Amino acid sequence: MRKHFRKHNLPVENIRRYLEPGPIVLVSSAWKGRRNIMTMGWHTVMEFSPSLVGCVISSGNHSFEMVRRSRECVINVPTTALTDEVIGIGNSSGADIDKFDHFGLTTSKAEKVKAPLIRECYANFECRLADDSLVDKHNFFIWEVVRAQAAVSPKSPQTLHYTGDGIFMVSGRIISRRRQFLPEML
Ligand SMILES: Cc1cc2nc3c(=O)[nH]c(=O)nc-3n(C[C@H](O)[C@H](O)[C@H](O)COP(=O)(O)O)c2cc1C
Repeated sequence: MRKHFRKHNLPVENIRRYLEPGPIVLVSSAWKGRRNIMTMGWHTVMEFSPSLVGCVISSGNHSFEMVRRSRECVINVPTTALTDEVIGIGNSSGADIDKFDHFGLTTSKAEKVKAPLIRECYANFECRLADDSLVDKHNFFIWEVVRAQAAVSPKSPQTLHYTGDGIFMVSGRIISRRRQFLPEML
């Protein structure tokens, strides 16, 4: 029998815990000979084709002006192997240190953008700014992914999913229900 949950009221500012399932990513950027990385959880897929991804980058972050001015970035997807780096990169500023050197991450050249790819990450998505109309109001950048690469294996890597308060979920059991989907929905 399907369960009816017993519930309690929540402060609305705490709902992130229930709505932030996407993997934590590392956003790399480059501008005027400088490079940087930040940790990001607030992103969403917006369209398949063109491939659009929206994200919030707070204006206080060093990365904000770098991506706003260069109009490019790379979204790199780390696995749990980089948990300490994810936290360190999200708790330091590119204004003070070169985070690639500090966290010992290696880069390779992207094909379509100047921002570097992080080789230790499982997937790398090169992005160009598609729409900046919400940047001033909400720090919301809409990116078009113009090149994508992902590791051949494992098929389902262990990614980190942030629920706030220093707590991460780790992606887990895979359930395939392909047969129940309309073909055009796959
Ligand atoms: C798990 C985690 C998730 C984060 N998600 C975001 C985010 O979605 N948007 C954002 O602006 N900052 C986010 N941050 C904070 C930035 O990563 C942090 O402010 C970082 O120091 C910015 O680096 P920068 O100043 O070098 O750009 C997150 C930090 C952590 C640890």
